[in-house]
This record gives sequence, C-alpha cells and structure tokens, in this order.
Amino acid sequence: MLKRVLVTGAGGFIGHHLMNALVDLGYWVRGADIKSPEFQPSRADEFHLLDLREVQNCEQMTDGVDMVFALAADMGGMGYISSHHAAILHTNTLINFNTLEAARRSGVRRYLFTSSACVYPEYRQLATDVPALREEDAYPAAPQDAYGWEKLITERLCTHYREDYGMEMRIIRFHNIFGPLGTWEGGREKAPAAMCRKVAIAKLTGNHEIEIWGDGKQTRSFCYIDDCVTGIHKLMVSDFAYPLNLGQDRMVSINELADLVADIAGIRVNKRHVSGPMGVRGRNSDNTLLRQVLGWTPVISLEDGLRRTYRWIEAQVAAKLSEKCSSSFTSKVAATTP
Ligand code: NAD
Ligand code: GDD
Repeated sequence: MLKRVLVTGAGGFIGHHLMNALVDLGYWVRGADIKSPEFQPSRADEFHLLDLREVQNCEQMTDGVDMVFALAADMGGMGYISSHHAAILHTNTLINFNTLEAARRSGVRRYLFTSSACVYPEYRQLATDVPALREEDAYPAAPQDAYGWEKLITERLCTHYREDYGMEMRIIRFHNIFGPLGTWEGGREKAPAAMCRKVAIAKLTGNHEIEIWGDGKQTRSFCYIDDCVTGIHKLMVSDFAYPLNLGQDRMVSINELADLVADIAGIRVNKRHVSGPMGVRGRNSDNTLLRQVLGWTPVISLEDGLRRTYRWIEAQVAAKLSEKCSSSFTSKVAATTP
C-alpha cells in the first residue's frame, strides 16, 4: 500500500477535510500550504507553510512521498474567479507545473489533480435547464474564465506525464463543493456559504431582506464535502486515469437554494436581486461515468448538507456579530494572494 502522502492546499477547505480523512485511514500525511487551516488546527504528521509557486519548495514537499493529492490553487466562487484572471492563471500554472515536475523527479508513484466543472465550455451552459455535463463535453474547449483554462491545460499536462513518463494519474472535476470549515465571507465564498451567511444575518438581526446576484434563476448542483472526500479517495485507489466528474446531479436554482437555507433557519426571506458576477447560466454533473468507474455516487442530500453547513455558519455569524464586526459581511470581490 502507498502510505506516505502529500496534500497540497492542506490549509484550505477541501484539503483540510481530506487530510483529516487520510489521517483516520492510517496514512502518513504531509500537508503544504501558504496558510494554516483557518478554523481548526491541522492533524497532519507534518505541516509546512510555504509557497508552492517556488520550484525548490515543490521539490522539498514531494521528496519521500508515494502519492500527491494536488489541491493548492488560487480559487474562489464567482465573486473571485470572474476577475483576477491574470493572477489566477499565473499563480495556478506555476503551482501545478512545478508540483507535477517535482513529483516526477522525486519518483512519486501516483498523482491526483483537482480540476473543476469550470473546464466545460460556456456554449454548453447557456440555459437554466441545460443537459448535465459529461466528461467528453469538455471539447472543443471554451471555458468561461482563465481559472477554467488553467485547469484544462493542467489536465493535459497530467495526461502527457502519464503517457510520456508513465506516472499514474488521477484527474477529478469538482462541481461546487460546500460544507463546514469552508470560506463563508470575504469575497471568495461560493453560493451555498454566501446564502447561509446572508440567511443567518437575516435571522440574527431581524432584517429579512437578502441580496442575490442576478435573477436567481441560474442553476447549479452542489456536493457536500464528506462525499467529495470519499470520492477523492475512491478515485485515488482506483485505476482510472482519465478526467472524472465529482458532484451531485440534482440541479437547483440559486433562488431555490436560498429558500432551502431559509427553511432550515426557520425564517422567511425577501430576495433582492442585484447585479453581480453570474458565471454560466446553468450547470449540472452527469454522473454516469462516476457510477461506472467507482460503483458509487454522492449520497448526502442537499438538504442534509445545507443543514450541517448552516449550523456551522450561523455560529460563525453569531460570534462575529457579538464582536460587532458586521460591517465586513457584504459580498464583494476579493483581493488576490500576495
Ligand atoms: P481553498 O481556497 O479553500 O484551498 C486552496 C488552498 O490552496 C488554500 O488554502 C490556499 O492558501 C492554497 N494556496 C494558494 N496559493 C498557494 C501557493 N502559492 N502555495 C501554497 N498553497 C497555496 O479551495 P478548495 O475549495 O479547498 O479547493 C481545493 C482544490 O479544488 C482547488 O484546486 C480548487 O481549484 C479545486 N476545486 C474546488 C471546487 C469547490 O467547489 N470548492 C470546485 C472545483 C475545483
Ligand atoms: N458566490 C456567490 N455569492 N454567488 C452568488 C451570490 C452570492 O452572494 N448570489 C448569487 N450567486 C450566484 C452566482 O451569480 C452564480 O450564478 C451562482 O450563484 C453560483 O456561484 P458560485 O457558487 O460562486 O460559483 P459557480 O458555481 O459558478 O462556480 C464555482 O464552482 C466551480 C465548480 O463547479 C466556483 O467555486 C468555481 O471556482 C468552481 O470551479
């Protein structure tokens, strides 16, 4: 069994949850990130604070491990990735190209790259009731943002490293992952966390008006973090070397998402539709290949996942309100990584 692993982006949302799961499964885990986990201490055997844009840091991190879970990225929801194109493309290319090459030189046996539904072409996501996206739909390529282009080119690089150098590759395309311990304010948060925060503020302050970017009819599917971590591990220990979707296949509108969260909070909200970054009009995951390859698909319902997430975010909001810091709660465009 390949027991020594590196998780990059281990200070982030998915990386932190993944690291905990790998520790529980008995792996020896090295975590690397430019920042520490924000909400809980790391349980990694080793945690290194460093910048993976630098070649020598990538070499140091990949030395002596059997497998790499490559999650480090400059990323966020639409409030972030709809702008900052230059920084995202530059940073993520450096991180991914340097980490993969260092892993090859260090003799890493297996490498998992975390890609995104953002690789899919904008022309397949122009309506609210779009057909679910199959893996082969990524081509002819036309991702909406630089973030998606970078993910696609790194997918290609991983494929060529497998073909030319014989490295074992895994490529996973996440569809909007959410859950506790994720970014919930500051501009990088995604819609589920943003809706939980806005509803929690409405409930705790008594002002029941919440803002939604666009008309709220745009659609997405949302996958709970525990399913995401289970899927990552199942793929890593499988022998499937091609891009694979990992998401839920239940598509809901953002208005429906807000109503679900309000139901969980036990309040009614008035939605105010405002202009904001919209991303694609509709998106869903086709899980046919996922089911075939892993014999599994995500099991946690949207309601169940939102209940767990809302509880955690409401507690964060309550703590912040009691510090009288509510002025920092607005959705805004975030700054880039220094
Ligand atoms: P996240 O932002 O919480 O985690 C990414 C981590 O990478 C952060 O902790 C960040 O500090 C770190 N990082 C950024 N620049 C770095 C650098 N120069 N050196 C070292 N570390 C650096 O995001 P996440 O939601 O946990 O996403 C993990 C991975 O999954 C990312 O590659 C992301 O693009 C991908 N992904 C996530 C989603 C989602 O819905 N969360 C969807 C599609 C793809
Ligand atoms: N973030 C956010 N905040 N989105 C909002 C808000 C708000 O307050 N109000 C409405 N929305 C709408 C956005 O306009 C968008 O149409 C939709 O909710 C979903 O937004 P996000 O969750 O921010 O992003 P996404 O689903 O378009 O893309 C995310 O998932 C991809 C993978 O599926 C991003 O995190 C990408 O980085 C990721 O790759």
